[in-house]
Amino acid sequence: MNPATPTPSYYSRGGLAIYHADCRVVLPTFADESFDFVLTDPPYLVNYQGRWDGDREPIAGDNTDDWLHPTYAELWRLLKPDTFCVSFYGWPQCDRFVGVWKHLGFRLVSHLAFVKNVWGLGRFTRGKHETAFLLAKGRPPRPAKGIADVIEWEREPDAFHPNQKPVHALYPLLAAFAPTGGTVLDPFLGSGSTLRAAKDMGLRAVGIEIDEHYCRRAAARLAQDVMFPLPAGETSEGERHDDLE
Ligand SMILES: C[S@@+](CC[C@H](N)C(=O)[O-])C[C@H]1O[C@@H](n2cnc3c(N)ncnc32)[C@H](O)[C@@H]1O
Repeated sequence: MNPATPTPSYYSRGGLAIYHADCRVVLPTFADESFDFVLTDPPYLVNYQGRWDGDREPIAGDNTDDWLHPTYAELWRLLKPDTFCVSFYGWPQCDRFVGVWKHLGFRLVSHLAFVKNVWGLGRFTRGKHETAFLLAKGRPPRPAKGIADVIEWEREPDAFHPNQKPVHALYPLLAAFAPTGGTVLDPFLGSGSTLRAAKDMGLRAVGIEIDEHYCRRAAARLAQDVMFPLPAGETSEGERHDDLE
């Protein structure tokens, strides 16, 4: 039973849907236990001033944790029994993330490192990796084929989101933890990497993004039959990506 009013989708095609909204508004409109896997990359709570199109722009939700408990509580409700959630997180705030996950009942069953081919700048060390937890709701079965907990990360040359995860780094996660034909959820979609990876692997998926600029770019990525970089200077601005079905 859910009395919340459904939000119209921003993009919906071939089993992939994007919602342009605060995920705290959209998630309550979905039925209990309707997703097979969550793969998400929330704001890291580090007050990051990202950049797109030359401007310095804060990432929504990066300076407040008021979304943290409500969102993961919804993810717990929406996951089917005995399933997985892979969540990136900001290491400076790992206690807050882990505290909420454990409070909700998620078990920390593995930790993943992504090793970047391009080094960042840093104060004490130069950042060359990202991390994510593999969380379990209940007792999911072991994947048919185990994957390494270290995954290579090659920056995408046409990346347009300051926190963009390379699609190739997400394939092993979907292969191991999303069942064939299953439905994947990402409430912090950004550039759409999770949905693009799901599309490439024949999965259904739902993404939510609060920033319309990123919804538009993500929709353009999904609309491509084959992934290819946009030519220099060309953007997807102005294309229509409302429900095409
Ligand atoms: C770390 S980024 C995700 C990047 C993404 N994984 C990618 O590969 O591009 C987090 C995203 O969540 C969005 N966001 C922040 N708060 C949100 C909320 N309450 N609901 C939906 N999206 C939100 C931000 O605008 C940002 O694009």
